[in-house]
Amino acid sequence: MKLLTSTIFSAIQPFLSLLLPRSFPLLLVLLAFASTLFPLASAQLDKYAKLAGLSYFGTAVDNPRLYNEQYMSVLQGSGEFGSLTPINAQKWKKTEEVQGVFTFAEADAIANTAKAGVGGMKTLRCHTMVWYKGLPSWVETTYSRDDMEKILAAHIQNLAQYFKGRCYAWDVVNEAIDENGVFRQSPMYKAMGLDFITFSFKTAAKADPGAKLYYNDYALESPSLSTGPKISITLAMLRTVKAQGGTVHGVGFQSHLKVGLVPARAEIVNTMQQFLEVVDEVAITELDIRHSPLKVPSTREMWNAQARDYGEVVGACLDVNKGYGGRKCVGVTLWDFTDKYSWVPSEIPTEGEACMWDNNYVKKPAYWTVLNMFKAYAAGASSRRAGMDGVDGGNGTVSELDLEAAAHRGPEGGPGLGREQTTKTVVATTLATARRVRSTARTGA
Ligand code: XIL
Repeated sequence: MKLLTSTIFSAIQPFLSLLLPRSFPLLLVLLAFASTLFPLASAQLDKYAKLAGLSYFGTAVDNPRLYNEQYMSVLQGSGEFGSLTPINAQKWKKTEEVQGVFTFAEADAIANTAKAGVGGMKTLRCHTMVWYKGLPSWVETTYSRDDMEKILAAHIQNLAQYFKGRCYAWDVVNEAIDENGVFRQSPMYKAMGLDFITFSFKTAAKADPGAKLYYNDYALESPSLSTGPKISITLAMLRTVKAQGGTVHGVGFQSHLKVGLVPARAEIVNTMQQFLEVVDEVAITELDIRHSPLKVPSTREMWNAQARDYGEVVGACLDVNKGYGGRKCVGVTLWDFTDKYSWVPSEIPTEGEACMWDNNYVKKPAYWTVLNMFKAYAAGASSRRAGMDGVDGGNGTVSELDLEAAAHRGPEGGPGLGREQTTKTVVATTLATARRVRSTARTGA
């Protein structure tokens, strides 16, 4: 854009100077120069996301990137991102590596970047208080219930109080349930059972009543993404936590997905709606869609397929809001925006190119698909599909007894709530959703 603007200016400048006062060419030169200093906001995901009904479009950032000029120029350059999430800076290992000694310098650096608001970033999503990974070794041991309560209380209170007023949302508990729908045997779970979740949410609510408190996890988008009843168990867990007095405002759908295996948009909508029966809001919190396996060199077809998949996920978030006539899927966060720093290849070397910008900060088709979708929504031209294709099986709700069963089930899973048991519920919900979607489409809501 910058280049184009400058080229056009220089091409027409000699002709204009014949027609216009002598000082005009100088003005044009100044304008062209200014356009390189302040890039014209040719494309702004956050701006159009907001116009399309979201509160923000954001990205996650890890601290070393803050010193990379090229990275920062995209991050802050032209208003693409309205929200930041620290990738690692707020994790337990970074914030309380030694018991009782809290260090927030890295997290502050990211919080301050968001606060500075350069390029429009204003919102901070805080991530995460209690996770089974990223723990310092002193937590990774066996504690009594009482001791674990004290440990959790100190950790959560310190984080919540330090960042009070700065976090739009906190991922209070992250990934407590595995793909089989079984509670992870974290040190917290071993010491307190399910109560660690309620306790964490209660403590966070007391320490920062202003933040939206989230449960955050992956494979919540559709039953097809897990090997067990993860969604049902998560829903039941949330109901239990709330019944026990825990405050849970939101559920984060991480959405670390694979190209070609992304659930259909309508199916994600359906799942989000089930969560919205339990919590006030949902968000896409860690979006990236990787090629698995990654074929190199990558082709246009691969990137187009990825773009379609990005569209399904982001589109679901927009559709949910349309369905409710209000902001229920509040925002989308990328788990970093460029392949250069994606976490995927370092965890799984055969997979990757999961982001919307490539290794060289060039926007991929996924970028344009998402941007155009925002624009279409913003213009009131719904890009939703009225059909409900791609629905296969689903999940229902489970009782606390089922929850207990899941908690005690072995890692290989076992007899539980399978799709066959709940298909009826899902078909009914899906048809209701389809009707709702169609009727809102007709009324142009
Ligand atoms: C990942 C980071 O991206 C990596 O840099 C780190 O080594 C491990 O954690 N789910 C989450 C995130 O909630 O915190 C994880 O982030 C990715 C999966």
